[in-house]
Amino acid sequence: MSTTVDVQGLRHVYKGGTIALDGVDLSIGAGLFGLLGPNGAGKSTLMRILCTLLKPSEGRASVLGHDVVRQRRAVRSHLGYLPQEFGAWRLHRVEEVLDTLADLSGLKGRSTRRDRVDTVLDSVGLGEVAHRKVKKLSGGMTRRLGIAQALIHQPRLLIVDEPTVGLDPEERIRFRQLMTTLGKERTIILSTHIVADLGAGCSDLALLDDGRIVFRGSPTELLERAQGQVFELTLPTSAPPPQGEFEIVSRTVDAQETTYRSVAAPGRLPEGARPASEPTLEEGYLAFMLARGRAEDLLRDGHFGESDGDAAACRDDGEAPAGQTSREEDES
Ligand SMILES: Nc1ncnc2c1ncn2[C@@H]1O[C@H](COP(=O)(O)OP(=O)(O)OP(=O)(O)O)[C@@H](O)[C@H]1O
Ligand SMILES: [Mg+2]
Repeated sequence: MSTTVDVQGLRHVYKGGTIALDGVDLSIGAGLFGLLGPNGAGKSTLMRILCTLLKPSEGRASVLGHDVVRQRRAVRSHLGYLPQEFGAWRLHRVEEVLDTLADLSGLKGRSTRRDRVDTVLDSVGLGEVAHRKVKKLSGGMTRRLGIAQALIHQPRLLIVDEPTVGLDPEERIRFRQLMTTLGKERTIILSTHIVADLGAGCSDLALLDDGRIVFRGSPTELLERAQGQVFELTLPTSAPPPQGEFEIVSRTVDAQETTYRSVAAPGRLPEGARPASEPTLEEGYLAFMLARGRAEDLLRDGHFGESDGDAAACRDDGEAPAGQTSREEDES
């Protein structure tokens, strides 16, 4: 596997003393790479360092062999970035935004640019709204425009930070498919809370927690770790929900019985629990964090939203957590 991104001993301490990255080593090859982790884990910090927007306090990172601190221009020529907050250009038309960005990235000649803009818009499924003003796009379309702008100069590395926050289920499916397609020709690093959004196109992921990589491997390996921790428990519907050292992820209710699908820390299954079939990646992630004693943070952040007893299966379309507050830039 050829390496696109190589990170060694990366550490970042913000002014004020927050340690956002605490010794990260990571090597990423072609395809769709998932960067998972709870709020504040350091995902955006890592991405901004790779994008040359933030200088790390210690350690090294390179993109296609170019150092992100010493060879910023070369790194930038190879990457496209969709930041966590993307909302500018509201009064412009979709095609104007892309034409301007193509111009800025050095694509000269009006007709060359027009061809490129058309190709990119088609590739993200926005060909039909090329003349529409950005403010009139839906949330999903705006994200896809964000991807289009990041793709305009045909980068070999695409970095997308929490692209699915706030999208409805249909838009999320569409976005997932787009990432899978784009990941066939380049490296994509995609950060998300919503594990299901990585989709089938993702074969490699890392879990960041408190500035450290706590898991690195394939989705299948993450699921294997969850073996025995995902279970179902059926109780009379009239009985109160079960309580214990586990988290309910969904429930199926009928007049007589309710089946609770849950994830427990290892060895903490309640009486009557039976193994659940086919754990989802999201349940695997929850199982892993429970085993680390960190599930509370995920639940607090709203990643697994069963708490008020809704029958909604958050495994299928867990609602996105609220966007984070903007912070002062402390760097370049
Ligand atoms: N500009 C900044 N100045 C000071 N502290 C910061 C800054 N940006 C982030 N932090 C802190 O660094 C840590 C890592 O933040 P980061 O934004 O990288 O996490 P994240 O994994 O992207 O979180 P989220 O899921 O909420 O987007 C957090 O404790 C955060 O509060
Ligand atoms: Mg972030």
